[in-house]
Amino acid sequence: MVSNKQSIEYLDISINSNSSEKCLGIIGCLGGIRDVAVTRILEVGPGGGAALDGLADYVEQNETEPIQVDILENFISKSWALQQARHRLNSLGVPTTQIAGDLTRTPFKANSFDAVNASSVMHEVYSYGGNYEGLNNAIAEISRILKPGGNFIYREVYPVDANLQTLVRQSFGLNSWKQFVKLFLPKYMSSAPHPYQPQEIGLQEIDGKLEGTIPVGLARDIQRHYITFRDELWRSGLLGFRPTTNTYRETEWLDEARTNKKIYYEFTGSPQISKMATFPKDIFAGEDAGGQYAEGELFDAVTDEVIGYALEKLRDDERLSSLVASWLHREGPEVYVYDNVDSFIQRVRTVSSKENDDDYLLELEPESVKVVARDYYSAYLKRALGEHALSDAKILMSFTKCKAT
Ligand SMILES: C[S@@+](CC[C@H](N)C(=O)[O-])C[C@H]1O[C@@H](n2cnc3c(N)ncnc32)[C@H](O)[C@@H]1O
Repeated sequence: MVSNKQSIEYLDISINSNSSEKCLGIIGCLGGIRDVAVTRILEVGPGGGAALDGLADYVEQNETEPIQVDILENFISKSWALQQARHRLNSLGVPTTQIAGDLTRTPFKANSFDAVNASSVMHEVYSYGGNYEGLNNAIAEISRILKPGGNFIYREVYPVDANLQTLVRQSFGLNSWKQFVKLFLPKYMSSAPHPYQPQEIGLQEIDGKLEGTIPVGLARDIQRHYITFRDELWRSGLLGFRPTTNTYRETEWLDEARTNKKIYYEFTGSPQISKMATFPKDIFAGEDAGGQYAEGELFDAVTDEVIGYALEKLRDDERLSSLVASWLHREGPEVYVYDNVDSFIQRVRTVSSKENDDDYLLELEPESVKVVARDYYSAYLKRALGEHALSDAKILMSFTKCKAT
């Protein structure tokens, strides 16, 4: 059976955005840093091929050296968007090949690639591939298959600056967040022990709020998961309305200084849940060529209200409970935050030299670490969680395979 993670809808729509950010590291490797006839790139875990589509844009607009792309996915992907991206590259003279395999033990020969690109892959390797052991094996394998001087390009959810076990105060006052935490935490906590998982969750209901002190790693994971859950509910149409994704993800602002986005939306005519949604009529802010739109802040606030109501009162609704169950199955055990930035850099260096003392992956200077803020999400988190919100961002890093001197 095709798991949720392998479904075409998940690969082609849910995770397939931000292509220019996802191919940034690959493009950074082009331009003749090494004197090779063909620059050979490995794209690991392409999902819907966003990074490759971004690379195709680049190749279309710039003169580049000859490039060859190998693709490694841990299942036989049926993603239509990925095939489209491959097709584009092929027609631009960049040959691509694709195989199914596991990053922790690939069939590639040592010293094969000039660059290995992995966007949002390592948290899955950690979550589903044996936690730190799997993560370490993947890093060692990347080091093995990279040529000397080759680059490992890493893009992930930004964790936190602190040690993941540092305790922080959290307070979930909005009903949607309270209900979500109750739903999500048991599954997450029972999936595997993580270094920042406390024996007992230190959250209690006090004066209508879920409050307490928990490790910052756990707090970050809760926040991240709420965002993905909200996305899933929107996409499902079950709330009775949904942002029209293409425009929603673009940077179209009503007021950029306030990070207030223009959100195009449509009605989905959903049953049960939309009956309570006073939302649809009230949030209309205007209409233009893109369709009807709302103010992002209001859109988010009403979404929270509907989610809170649905999770509390409509848990027996057949479509909602099945969506919740499948989301929990897919995302419930998933961990986004397994190291902070410094400990990940340290891990890469240590693990990559394990097999062969002479080789190791070193963070590429200067500016190897880029933090790309997600301003809109961060502003939303602040509104929803107040002073306890942790900001949301993506992290981009590059490492290079060096010889010990
Ligand atoms: C969240 S998706 C990211 C997709 C894409 N890179 C992007 O950023 O849009 C994670 C991808 O990693 C792949 N993946 C997870 N574990 C893997 C492993 N051990 N070996 C190869 N691919 C893996 C998944 O199949 C999926 O395509």
